[in-house]
Amino acid sequence: MFDMISERVSQLPKSDFVRILKQAEENPSIISLGPGEPDFEAPDYIIKSACKAMEEGHTHYSPIGGREELKRSIVKKVKRDNGVDISTENVIVTTGSNEAILLALMCLVDPGEEVLVPDPSFLSYRPTVDLMNGYPVSIPLKFGNNFQITGDMIREQIKDPEKVRALILCNPSNPTGRVLSKQNMKEIVDIALEHDIILMVDEAYEKLVYTEFNSFMEFPRIRDHLLTLQTFSKSYAMPGFRIGYAIGPKELVKAMTKTHTYATLTAPTMSQLAAITALEGDQSCVDKMYESYKKRRELVVSRLKELDYLEVVPPGGAFYAFPKITNLDFNSEEFCKYLLDKAGVLMVPGTEFGRYGDGFVRISFATDYELIQKAFDRVEKAFSKL
Ligand SMILES: Cc1ncc(COP(=O)(O)O)c(C=O)c1O
Repeated sequence: MFDMISERVSQLPKSDFVRILKQAEENPSIISLGPGEPDFEAPDYIIKSACKAMEEGHTHYSPIGGREELKRSIVKKVKRDNGVDISTENVIVTTGSNEAILLALMCLVDPGEEVLVPDPSFLSYRPTVDLMNGYPVSIPLKFGNNFQITGDMIREQIKDPEKVRALILCNPSNPTGRVLSKQNMKEIVDIALEHDIILMVDEAYEKLVYTEFNSFMEFPRIRDHLLTLQTFSKSYAMPGFRIGYAIGPKELVKAMTKTHTYATLTAPTMSQLAAITALEGDQSCVDKMYESYKKRRELVVSRLKELDYLEVVPPGGAFYAFPKITNLDFNSEEFCKYLLDKAGVLMVPGTEFGRYGDGFVRISFATDYELIQKAFDRVEKAFSKL
């Protein structure tokens, strides 16, 4: 038995998700409603730009915090999308936004300190806090209030304000699809300032919103306490390019850049050049993919509404629905196992996203429209036998 693995890593929770997804990949008869990435290929003009970059010899390292020309494009994008003026010193380019989460927590959390994490939420947050020997403190979310996060819900979890360093939010949310209301955002800003807490806001799905959406960047009061994480993985269907970025106070960005040196050193050069093309080029590809997700969202919601054992709050953003299992004596895992065995349809148990995800399943609509139809036909048939 190999027993050289650190305690820190040995004690990380085991995820069943990867195993379940692999099972679906290996069996073509299974329809997967599990994907956490776009089913679209990256747009042609972006692929061409990456190829051209390599052919022109851009196969070397880039500056550690990101290429200046990409940072300038990001500055322009933030002005265009959010009406906010930032400088290139507020930006770090990372190897996917997942790396930005890691770097930020490395820079903010000392052992024993706490990070507030809504539960359920994206599965990277809690283990990454664990890796820092910090404590992730759950904010239990409620189906009844549309998974919103109120000021009172946060206050309830701050037992020792001295220990709390950050609050990680995903807006729009993976897995619930919730978009934070402006009122709740104001309450969150007040609490962060009152307790001197850094707000880490993951906006991976900022371009996939079906309702009113505001970025915390639009609240000037919070800027010194705000780190916004964005990525090319979802909006531009570029997950394999491994390119994301974070926007925050200069001092934090500087610390993250220093730490980045010892992690990945630099995001891939060809991906950085392709990312410039993505931001500066024709944005109709983003709109086209958005329109397709929107149609699939309508389909998923309407099919769910026909079922009396899955109750859904229509998602305001991202490409997930997170219905509650009702009228059935199944927990999340039992429900998903039954579906996989009897219908050959894969959904992800809500418990993958935290213990308060029990009783829910995540359905991804980053899946072909016809396949979603077929999957729901199979689900109906499987449950008609119960
Ligand atoms: C909420 C959220 N944040 C971050 C990521 C990771 O994105 P990236 O590819 O930029 O590392 C994902 C990927 O599924 C995600 O869902």
